[in-house]
Amino acid sequence: MVRMPARETASGLRAVARCDDLGVAPYSDADDHLFRPYLGAGHAATLDRIAAWMTEAGMTARVDAAGNIVGRYEGRHPDAPALLIGSHVDSVRDGGRYDGMLGVMLGIETVAWFAERGHRFPFAIEVIGFGDEEGSRFPVSMLTSRAVAGVLGDQDLALADAAGVGLAEALDGFGLELARFVDAARHREDVLAYVEAHIEQGPVLEAEGHALGVVSAIAAQYRFRAVVTGVAGHAGTMAMHLRRDALAAAAEMVLAVERIGGMGPEDLVATVGRMEVGPGVPNVVPGAVTFSIDVRAGVGAVRDRAADEIRVALADIAARRTVGLDLTLQQDLPATPCDSVLSRLMAEAVQDVTGAEPRILVSGAGHDAMVMARLAPVAMLFLRCRGGVSHHPAEAVEVDDVQTALEAMTAFVTRFEHTWSDAGTVLTEEEK
Ligand code: GLV
Ligand code: MN
Ligand code: MN
Repeated sequence: MVRMPARETASGLRAVARCDDLGVAPYSDADDHLFRPYLGAGHAATLDRIAAWMTEAGMTARVDAAGNIVGRYEGRHPDAPALLIGSHVDSVRDGGRYDGMLGVMLGIETVAWFAERGHRFPFAIEVIGFGDEEGSRFPVSMLTSRAVAGVLGDQDLALADAAGVGLAEALDGFGLELARFVDAARHREDVLAYVEAHIEQGPVLEAEGHALGVVSAIAAQYRFRAVVTGVAGHAGTMAMHLRRDALAAAAEMVLAVERIGGMGPEDLVATVGRMEVGPGVPNVVPGAVTFSIDVRAGVGAVRDRAADEIRVALADIAARRTVGLDLTLQQDLPATPCDSVLSRLMAEAVQDVTGAEPRILVSGAGHDAMVMARLAPVAMLFLRCRGGVSHHPAEAVEVDDVQTALEAMTAFVTRFEHTWSDAGTVLTEEEK
């Protein structure tokens, strides 16, 4: 029987310090802020560091065909199926240091904790750092967990980034091949479960005084691209009443998205986060605008209704302003419940270490877990973050909470092992 660790914070401190180390160049592609897009130079440097930490923790490390870093802590038998613990290593532009990365570091610390005690399981543990969760480079998100779950669409392989660099070229620069990208897919029988620890990225845990929470479900997401086409012209000579200004129309559309997002339940949110104006010159009336629309809700039908209202509102604005509108759905991630059995184990693990019933909450943020749920049962542990701030350089965590999360992760893995044994599975039969 593996004992719970004595209360000390060295491992939690190390996990936080490593995230901090990776928060600056050369692990960031920007000198004055953190930006670690998929397949960039910062990503490559980061994988080298993480591989070294995985090896030091007792794992073998490899980069898979999609650019994910995978550390494997063998079980008592080679080729045993694995419990996957992971999160992502990419960041949004000017992001925080803990979104994603802390979950990867906690995976490494979890393995290190068992390895230091010489404990091997009837299954392997793999720690996975996904290369793209944010959509940090290409216009869709979760590209690399979708590769691992084997649920990529043909259109994913034809993606290009904002600079026009295609996925094939980006992979080539990373020493990977487009033709082999799908080889990152894992077989169902090789993956027992996927578990992700992540900062909450919201204010609930802090407001209610909980260090940790357990995620019951992850909200449904849509990502659209809107292209508004007007008529460009001289800013000094085009009379106002004759203009078909694409940016003025887009501005009205942004406000419609905001209004509709605010009309539903609290978990309905709608955001325009990116906009490109063409030609983008002070003395030219804008002729074309492209912008993103992100719509989310805990219940798929609520998101869908809002998306329908947005479509109607934007078409009305386009018609009234006589501009063209092309709205393309780029990504549809359904609302994803976490596995009830695994989540109960996680809740018990949290109770083991905090002595209190854990707060159960829905995640408005997207996570690789919502994709991995298509491959295996998933559970998520949330950690409180300061002020609920995320996707921002002010993102912060308390070392004590990170240590508590690590203790919950080790308690979870111990409970997972016992559940396996009790279930009398094929694997356990082999063990007997
Ligand atoms: C990722 O952080 C997302 O929720 O979009
Ligand atoms: Mn994020
Ligand atoms: Mn994240």
